[in-house]
Amino acid sequence: MAIETNLNPTHPGLPRQPFLETPRLRLFRWEAGDADSFRAISSDPEVMRYINGGRPWSAAELDEYIGRQIGHERTRGFCLWRMENTAAETIGMCGLQPVSIGGREEVEIGWWLAQRYWGQGLGTEAARRVLDFAWSGAKLERVIAIVMPENRASQNIMKKIGMTYEREDQHKGFRVVLYAIVGDRR
Ligand SMILES: CC(C)(COP(=O)(O)OP(=O)(O)OC[C@H]1O[C@@H](n2cnc3c(N)ncnc32)[C@H](O)[C@@H]1OP(=O)(O)O)[C@@H](O)C(=O)NCCC(=O)NCCS
Repeated sequence: MAIETNLNPTHPGLPRQPFLETPRLRLFRWEAGDADSFRAISSDPEVMRYINGGRPWSAAELDEYIGRQIGHERTRGFCLWRMENTAAETIGMCGLQPVSIGGREEVEIGWWLAQRYWGQGLGTEAARRVLDFAWSGAKLERVIAIVMPENRASQNIMKKIGMTYEREDQHKGFRVVLYAIVGDRR
């Protein structure tokens, strides 16, 4: 996997500042040059199995994804951020993005990890931090998650962070289940 050198493009020589942090993870805003660091993840059929049926993303799809996340960050103040471990390797993504489903405009939480980092609780650790930001930073009232029914690991994360099953739906041509959670507004 490519090692992200993580130089700050606006202040060369200085490291980029993470947007969110956990003990083992850092979430960064995307920059246009970040594609190389994520390519090994988005071209792994095992990672993509429950995203699009296992088809690796093309270079154009990855560029489009990064451009879209940069746009979400600008317009909404959040996105599916690039995730690094403490060794500054890009190991996945986690965050929030707007989504249209069931005739409603919603915000979904999502996570992808490089395969060698599965099963260490990192997905759950990232998801908890992002959900906390959804309430305290983004001031959202409701967050959903969309998952293929066979994706047990992802649904386990949803349950562990307090989301509950809401319904089945269709999304991008796939049958999905939808989990949801509302913020604590006390
Ligand atoms: C989904 C994903 C992020 C999970 O990350 P992870 O760091 O391995 O998850 P965690 O270690 O936090 O585990 C979460 C829970 O799921 C369980 N779990 C992990 N892998 C599992 C599997 N293959 N089947 C069933 N349960 C599984 C874990 O045991 C844990 O539950 P527990 O704490 O009660 O034991 C990772 O598998 C991934 O990146 N998959 C490919 C991309 C993807 O599908 N993203 C989600 C799209 S909706």
